[in-house]
Amino acid sequence: MSLWGGRFAEPSDEDLRRLNDSIGFDRALVAEDIAGSIAYAKALAAAGVLATDEASAIVAGLKQVLAEFDKDTFTRMPADEDIHTAVERRLIELVGDVGGKLHTGRSRNDQVATDFRLWSMSAVDRLAGDLRQLQRALVAKAEQHIDCVMPGYTHMQPAQPITAAHWLLSFFWMLERDTDRLASARERMAVCPLGAGALAGTPLSIDRHSLANSLGFARPSENSLDAVSDRDFVADLLYACALCAAHLSRLAEDILNYSNPAFAFISLDDRYSTGSSLMPQKRNADPMELMRGKTGRLIGNLSGFLATLKGLPSGYNKDLQEDKEALFDSLDTMTRLLPVMSATIRSLQIHADAMAAALTEDLLATDLADYLVRKGLPFRQAHHAVGAVLRRAAELSLDLSEMPLAELQAISPLFAADVADAFDFAQSVAQRRAYGGAAPDAVREQIARAKQLLAGQNE
Ligand code: ARG
Repeated sequence: MSLWGGRFAEPSDEDLRRLNDSIGFDRALVAEDIAGSIAYAKALAAAGVLATDEASAIVAGLKQVLAEFDKDTFTRMPADEDIHTAVERRLIELVGDVGGKLHTGRSRNDQVATDFRLWSMSAVDRLAGDLRQLQRALVAKAEQHIDCVMPGYTHMQPAQPITAAHWLLSFFWMLERDTDRLASARERMAVCPLGAGALAGTPLSIDRHSLANSLGFARPSENSLDAVSDRDFVADLLYACALCAAHLSRLAEDILNYSNPAFAFISLDDRYSTGSSLMPQKRNADPMELMRGKTGRLIGNLSGFLATLKGLPSGYNKDLQEDKEALFDSLDTMTRLLPVMSATIRSLQIHADAMAAALTEDLLATDLADYLVRKGLPFRQAHHAVGAVLRRAAELSLDLSEMPLAELQAISPLFAADVADAFDFAQSVAQRRAYGGAAPDAVREQIARAKQLLAGQNE
């Protein structure tokens, strides 16, 4: 018989159980469920609802239940529909009727919301640690390639020279925002629903502030009706995961492109490449494709759960049970992706020679326009003139730097012999030294700021 069986003359249908039961996945919340119950038993004792020895018996029993889960000796019974009912059923078996006093004034509605917030808070901490590892890997790799000039692209077309360090660091800042998002999501998570009861609050004189603090929350929830159905924290975390995965996916896409032999800018370590069962020459970057592929699933978890939330009436509804598998899956996926990306970056080989060989002079077209601007031409006209130079060079099948001065001067009389200085890739990058630019000087400062942020974060 289930814990709520009193009102029912018949046991639940088997098919209903398969749909309704959540123990198959929510047993992952056992540690949080028991921590929440221990804190609640103490709060009941402080409120005079439980005698001290009753609370002690309950706490000891709960610890024993947890030990059974830890040792994998817990036996699930048919009526254990979720982790909350399973723990309470076993508690009563172990300590007798006094165990039945634990749920006084409590509902699974405030219980599950509390458990899942606790679980999510430690999930955020784990995820933040993994993110930090990747950020460190990016900074370390960038530091070795501050002067390594490569083509930068917009629309996947050669645009302007940048450096490999600048490319890698661009992802550091995306991940830094992901880290921020996790931190702010965690703040909103740290609100304790326990004591909200089923929806209306508790008639017991429970000190919800000290109950919240004893569990590591910052404060108790403000409104019991909101507290039992608020899953914003789940959506926050699903979003933080989905966006972080989108960043990983973009980095993966660059790695896939740059490791293609047509670019050959980088190569992946054997340990992070895969082969083909048929074509012996293949070195595929399957893990990077999985970064991209699994991002779709993380976005799906977010949009699926938002769809679950959007039509819910006030109070707890069983739809909310859908929160767990989505978040478990997103977290599980992230904890697979992040370490592989970190190791891929750490072991990435960057081929400065191939990057240098890919530097085509069209990447310096902007520099040529800037040259004319320095000679006093308004930028718009300079842009037009360099366009004409490019067209003429194509007609003559010449590189920009091979264009005779007379040809250049026929387009703009401002061209002079010193134009030769504009055809220098390293110089082009070095000029972009304003804050946040690709110049080695600016990148060194960027790295210093990145390291400062990493040092400020707890390990
Ligand atoms: N397994 C449920 C969930 O995950 C626990 C809460 C059940 N509450 C209820 N009133 N049926 O949401």
